[in-house]
This record gives sequence, C-alpha cells and structure tokens, in this order.
Amino acid sequence: MAGGPREQWTSRHGFVLAAIGSAVGLGNMWRFSYLAAENGGAAFVILYLATTLVIGLPVLLAELVLGRGSQKSPIQALTHYGGSRWKPLGLVFVTAGFLILSYYAVIAGWAVRYGLAAIVSGFDPNAAERFGEVASGWDAFGYHLAFMALTVFVVVRGVTGGIERTSVVLMPILFVLVLGLAVYAATLNGASAGYAYYLRPDFSKLLSLNVLKDAAGQAFFSLSLGMGAMLTFASYLGRNVNLPRAAALIAGADIAIAFIAGLVVFPMIFALELSADVGASTVGALFITLPKAFAEMGSVGRGVGILFFAALIVGALTSAISLLEVVVSSAIDGLGWSRRKAGILLGIAIAVLGAPSAWSTDILGAVDQVANNILLLGGGFALSIFVGWVMAGPIEEASEGASSAAWYGSWRNLLRYAVPAFLFFILVYDAIPSTFRTIADLF
Ligand code: TRP
Repeated sequence: MAGGPREQWTSRHGFVLAAIGSAVGLGNMWRFSYLAAENGGAAFVILYLATTLVIGLPVLLAELVLGRGSQKSPIQALTHYGGSRWKPLGLVFVTAGFLILSYYAVIAGWAVRYGLAAIVSGFDPNAAERFGEVASGWDAFGYHLAFMALTVFVVVRGVTGGIERTSVVLMPILFVLVLGLAVYAATLNGASAGYAYYLRPDFSKLLSLNVLKDAAGQAFFSLSLGMGAMLTFASYLGRNVNLPRAAALIAGADIAIAFIAGLVVFPMIFALELSADVGASTVGALFITLPKAFAEMGSVGRGVGILFFAALIVGALTSAISLLEVVVSSAIDGLGWSRRKAGILLGIAIAVLGAPSAWSTDILGAVDQVANNILLLGGGFALSIFVGWVMAGPIEEASEGASSAAWYGSWRNLLRYAVPAFLFFILVYDAIPSTFRTIADLF
C-alpha cells in the first residue's frame, strides 16, 4: 500500500464543491443542449429532470454510502462489502473512467482552442468549417494533450491540495459566469423563440422511449454516476457528514446549472436564427452555432464568447479530474503505486486512447454513446442491486451523520426494485434491433 493514512477533504463544503465540480461540466452545457435540441426541447428536459430525481438521486446516495462506508476506491469498496466476485464490476468502472476521459478531454481541448482563439483573434463566422479544423487531426490531438496535462497536474497534487482547492476556487466563478450569461441572453431580441423551444413541451416526444433512454443516460452522465466517481470522492469523507443532504445539494446544483445553461444557449441560437444549424451536427452543435452567434454579435459577442468558453473549460476541468481520480485512486489502492506515478502513467495512457476521438467526431460520438447508454446505465444497474441487496447495513451508513428518517426504507426499496427494473428495461430496449422494435410497435 502506498503511504500513510487515507487523505480527507479539509471541509464539508470542500467535498460538496468538488462533487458539484465533478457533476457540472461539458455534460451540462455541451451534451445537455445538444440532446435537448435533438430530442424536441422541453420534452427531453422534463424526462431528464424526472430521471435525475427518481433514478439518479437514489443511485448517487448509494455511491456516497459505498464510498464513505468502505473508505476505499471502487474495486476495493465492492470487494469490501461483496467479496472478490464483485471485482470484475470494479474493473468495468475503472475501464469506463478510462474511456470517458479519453474523449471528454478531446472535447475540452476544443473548448480551450476556441477560448484561446477568441482572445487572440475573435470568432470565425465560417463556424462549421472552423469546427471541422478544430475537431480533427493533430490540432485536436494537441489541445487534447494539453488539457490532459492540466488534469494530471491537478490530480497529482492530491485530494486536498489539487482537487479540493481547484474546485473551491473555480466552482463559484463558474456559477457567476453561467448566471451572468443567462441574464445577458435574456436581453437579446428574439430570445423568446428560444425559450419557447426550450420550455414548451412537444407531448408526443414525452412518450418516446428513445427520448427517455437519452434522458436517463444524460441524468447518469451529468451526475457523474455509474462508474464510481462519486463513490471515490465520498471515500475521502469523515463520518460526520450528512450524505443525503450532500446528495441533494449535488443533484440540485447539477440540475440548476444544466437548466441555466439551456437559458443561455437556446435564446442565443434562436435570437440569431441559427436553429436550423443545430440539427445538422450532433456533437458539434454547441461548437458551431454558438461561435457563429458570437461572431455575428461583433465585439460584444467576442467578450461574451470568451466568458462562455471560460465557464466551459472550468466545468470540464473539475469534471475531468474526477474521472482521472477514479483511475488513479484504484492504482494507488490496488497496485500500491504512488499518486505521482499513477497520475502521470495513466494520464499518458488515457491521452493515447483519446487519439481516435481526436481524429474523428464520429468515433467520438460512438464512444460517448457506448460509454453512457451501456457502461454507465449498466453500472448504475449493478450499483443499485449491490447496495439494495448485497451490502450489509446501507441504511445505517446513510443515516450516519444525518438524522434518521422514515424515507430511508423507501430509498432502499427504490434501489432494490424500481431503479434496477427501470435501468434493465432501458438497457434491453436499447439492445433490441430497431427492425424488431418497429414490429413490436405494431402491437
Ligand atoms: N458529470 C460530468 C459532466 O457533466 C462528466 C463526468 C465527470 C462524469 N465524472 C464522471 C460522467 C463520471 C460519468 C461518470 O460533464
């Protein structure tokens, strides 16, 4: 085992801000807005809110309970409570961390590139062409490497000196930036068309299983669930922390930022009549339409755009460090590596693994789909079964440091029945080939 007692957050709000930092990221701004655009706006938003509260929140508490209870990184937390047969699940979690960070850092690299270019020379009105250059080849790979280096730098400095300090400083800045941008967007002529698209549901989509699947995947991605990231952060917690309250704060902040980010993105896109461009590219939506909007808004747009990309980069960094921390803490606990060695070696491995995503946005989109709709939802399924049925005393652990409350029993019942049933359905539904699905729709 590598050195000394386990690190601990220096304060409760340090932990909560780090966990919010993990949750709030590209998912809230880039992924949320492109999925909302693709899936009919408000209908998606409603399903995302519902799955976050009913499915995401119980799984979040389950991860916090597992992490704080075991004081270990994912693989060892699972074997601690369930024995060695649960080790493969832990390995799946670490693999998911590897895979997600490998493309996440590519997208973050695009954001760094746009932010720097905006400072130096502004936004290019030929936004689609520009995106094509930014998001492929050596350029994309180079910025991906730079962003990975930054992530490694923070994680190597440790839980308190790196992760906690970064989140405590940066998260309040992100909140102020996003709020300010939403207020600015409200002043644009034509903003109301954006609000209407974003907030007025198309009820036919509300019933679509595909939209529900995307909403559930997004709920997991946005809350950093299903691969032990929140578990790992909670393993650095003391016993006096109120976990249910922490879970509510984390989920509340995550929903709020996603929602407010929508209040930034949609009014801007609609005010400049760029809504037709949104559907044209999925992963690129935010990186094409918004820079185009900023370019058309002239010098004000340049300033606003710089602030927007600053917020995006901050969110991406505090999320990326949580992804790397899962992998690094597993190597520290399981292989006895030093934090420095784990951070640097694994960081390099992840950077290399990101190369295909740097070269092709199609590959990136495909990895994103697999990682989310299979690995994270499957991981959430396994986690809810584990805490609901296998782990001894989850309710005692959840109420440690909190007041005991009547709803703990319902929480466990959710984990035992409703959450796994829902996730199983979503997973299996996804695996049924679409031809069969259409036939099934006839009945
Ligand atoms: N939640 C982050 C976002 O919304 C991404 C993220 C960080 C993540 N850690 C994770 C996603 C762990 C899944 C699992 O951008």
